[in-house]
Amino acid sequence: MTDQPSPISGASAGISTLAVHAGEARQKPGNAITDAIFCTATYTFANTREAIEFVEQKLPREEYARYGNPTQKVAEAKLASLEGGESAVLYSSGMSAVAGLLLATLRGGDEVVLFDECYHRTRQFCTECLGKFGCVTHKVPACDFEAMEAAINQRTRLLVSESPTNPHLSVVDLERFVALGRKYGIATVVDSTLATPFNLRPLEYGVDYVMHSATKYLAGHNDVMAGVVIGSDEKLRPLRDLRGVLGNLPGPHSDYLLLRGLKTFDLRMRRHNENGMAVASFLESHPRVEKVYYPGLPSHRDYEIARRFMHGFGGLITFLVRDADADTTARVVDSVRLPRIGPSLGGVESLIEQPIVMSYHSHTPEQRRAVGIPDNMIRLACGIENADDLIADLSQALEA
Ligand SMILES: Cc1ncc(COP(=O)(O)O)c(C=O)c1O
Repeated sequence: MTDQPSPISGASAGISTLAVHAGEARQKPGNAITDAIFCTATYTFANTREAIEFVEQKLPREEYARYGNPTQKVAEAKLASLEGGESAVLYSSGMSAVAGLLLATLRGGDEVVLFDECYHRTRQFCTECLGKFGCVTHKVPACDFEAMEAAINQRTRLLVSESPTNPHLSVVDLERFVALGRKYGIATVVDSTLATPFNLRPLEYGVDYVMHSATKYLAGHNDVMAGVVIGSDEKLRPLRDLRGVLGNLPGPHSDYLLLRGLKTFDLRMRRHNENGMAVASFLESHPRVEKVYYPGLPSHRDYEIARRFMHGFGGLITFLVRDADADTTARVVDSVRLPRIGPSLGGVESLIEQPIVMSYHSHTPEQRRAVGIPDNMIRLACGIENADDLIADLSQALEA
């Protein structure tokens, strides 16, 4: 194997070049052009001297699969480069990344303030799991910085936000978010899953930790689970150490699938953005649609903020069917032929779902009302099919 590094660096190359080359050695094991999958639980040493050099940190190499593998290191370097960060730590899922980050940075008695439109499992992890260890979570309305500031006290350690949020696609003013963190010396976290580094670069605004469900756009093919946190080497060291204890990292096949998916990241994101914009505009003009949530439409509450911070608006669209109850809305979902019915987003195949049937099924009607999830809401994750075909399909479904 060679340790000849890739000549590609984040400062000097475009996104597609980084997606293809960043983090990769020029010459690889077996002279293959692709990075190999290492199916091994442990790594052997030629002799005791080599083992001692390794434990004394004089010889960088692998030791045991719970600490990572060579393919994973390439994927981490590529992701760090795409996001413009020093370092990345990969996890076995997006939720594992959330848990890894919060467990590594918080202690009993610490407090977290998060915007209430955060992914529902993130909220659940904060309130139920961290709550058991004495951490306190304050939920405040999305993008309400006055409420966020009012919830801060001397025990607050993290401010957490998603941008855009799901399913309302609210977009956070990152300059205000970072300024608030700095005013009180509190670290900031952005879950940038829906944006990806193609559309938003939170680290450039001074956010401390960016995380993604890499299951979505980054891997991009609805075939693998992964999560990642990106930031400075120093900030990520405790996360990497804790992951080495817990072993909540992807397996070697998942690392390979992520790496393979990332190669076409730029191409896929261009199509997701184009499809999102075209389909959202079509839906907004349709008489059977009451409202569309898409940050690229001037009608969205956060349109101006989205235009300031984002380079594109992604493939996720949420809309309300006019004068429809839960059953009529379900009939629209059941009438589409291209998008499959299912949760998730960011893969090549389009997906559609009614939030009250999936993520919010266990909520009472009052709880759904409180978080703005009506019966006539549909969430559509545009894949990379042709926009005209998606539009024709939605048109027949809405008229069915
Ligand atoms: C915004 C966001 N963050 C985190 C997650 C969790 O990621 P995963 O499903 O990879 O655990 C999801 C999953 O839907 C998500 O949408």
